[in-house]
Amino acid sequence: MDPEEISSAPEQADNINKKQSRSPDTAFISRRLFIRAAGIGAISLGLQQLGCSVTKRSAQQTSSIPDIQGFERDTSGKTTSNGWSPVSDRKIRVGIIGYGVCKFGADFGFQNHPNVEVVAVSDLFPDRCAELAKACMCSKTYPSLEELVKDDRVEAVFIATDAASHADHVLKAIRHGKHVASAVPAVFGSIEDAERVFEAVKESGLKYMMFETSCFRGDLYAMRKIYFSGGFGKIVYSEGEYFHYMSEPIASFREWRVGLPPQWYPTHSNAYHVGVTGESFTEVSCLGMPSIISHLRPENNRYKNPFGTEIALFRTSGGGTSRMGVSWDTAGDGGERGRIRGQRGTFYEKYEGLEKNLPDINRPALPPGVPPGGHGGSHGYLTDEFVTSILLDRKPLVDIAAALNMTVAGIVAHQSALKNGELMKIPQFII
Ligand SMILES: NC(=O)c1ccc[n+]([C@@H]2O[C@H](COP(=O)([O-])OP(=O)(O)OC[C@H]3O[C@@H](n4cnc5c(N)ncnc54)[C@H](O)[C@@H]3O)[C@@H](O)[C@H]2O)c1
Repeated sequence: MDPEEISSAPEQADNINKKQSRSPDTAFISRRLFIRAAGIGAISLGLQQLGCSVTKRSAQQTSSIPDIQGFERDTSGKTTSNGWSPVSDRKIRVGIIGYGVCKFGADFGFQNHPNVEVVAVSDLFPDRCAELAKACMCSKTYPSLEELVKDDRVEAVFIATDAASHADHVLKAIRHGKHVASAVPAVFGSIEDAERVFEAVKESGLKYMMFETSCFRGDLYAMRKIYFSGGFGKIVYSEGEYFHYMSEPIASFREWRVGLPPQWYPTHSNAYHVGVTGESFTEVSCLGMPSIISHLRPENNRYKNPFGTEIALFRTSGGGTSRMGVSWDTAGDGGERGRIRGQRGTFYEKYEGLEKNLPDINRPALPPGVPPGGHGGSHGYLTDEFVTSILLDRKPLVDIAAALNMTVAGIVAHQSALKNGELMKIPQFII
């Protein structure tokens, strides 16, 4: 590991390994550490975290998959490999990086895809790295992404590291000539990083895809099909939300989840417009209310973030409006979902409107062995889309432009919320 490239050893970096702190904002970490040490872990705490929260394990889940809300398997039985046909017999050599709290590295079925050979894996923590290797049936491990990307055998990487590192890790992978799939968000709170990543991906000609799980949920898939077949006409209004109560954060690498500004994690909700239409958001006014939750007070987090809920009203590039909300500090009903209102029809869990000849809205067959996976059965589809885009040399769904149009809109929304709803322009990413 190059010490210039990685600022500190993981043992000093991950909050689960931190010594007890006396500061009030980290008191919860001490409690968590105690409970983990007692072998009970976060599950017993009933804690929730952003993007994945602890819930009861379903009988469908294997022991390698964490007990996490949103990770529930697709048990509808509607998705099979019947009717699937390969576009190539080539195997892409993939490297996978990151096996943190969500165990995302092994949860998207790369290791099961008939067109993939997982040739290397990495996590900074040796035990996580070993577990990831086992889960992916891969014998080659690297101590860091920085080492893995030097391996010439690796053609493509799946970056499932902490959100705060995505921009840096994507840039490193692209510079080493790898196609990149990245967990959300594309960048973390920095428009400068967004511009850097955009230019690097564009110049490289390599594939980049953000694994926004909402984009392959059944409802959003149906909305996209109906939109492109004309069933909605122009979209007048859309709304989406990622509502996820988190009274206390649980472990995350370098504590990136502690006090996280809601609209820095905007892609699950924004996908309900950008991922349906391919449009972007051009301006935003966003409001928040000072949170009563400790880690969401500005004095208690590194982001100086005072909000646990941020509700954004966007102008869309299609001329319509969109309300996108992210909330961590409202208990009760939660989820990742959205709705569409167009001049010819609406989608509120189902289509209603003027179009009588609707397209087939069932998600297609997956390759044999690839499970639909978690987050509404979206994981397998994201992997298959990324792999197919490389095999066919075509643009992936959620390419770099779509990824940044979803992500950066939220970054500007947070700026607007800090300015009490000032209407702000959003940079546009167009390929
Ligand atoms: N629905 C969704 O799309 C969804 C849900 C949950 C999580 N996520 C995303 O998945 C990602 C992973 O989440 P998590 O909770 O497991 O993260 P985490 O913070 O718990 O773990 C990150 C892991 O990355 C590893 N890592 C960091 N830098 C590295 C490097 N240079 N080389 C090798 N390994 C490195 C760390 O050692 C750590 O194990 C995050 O980006 C999160 O935003 C998305």
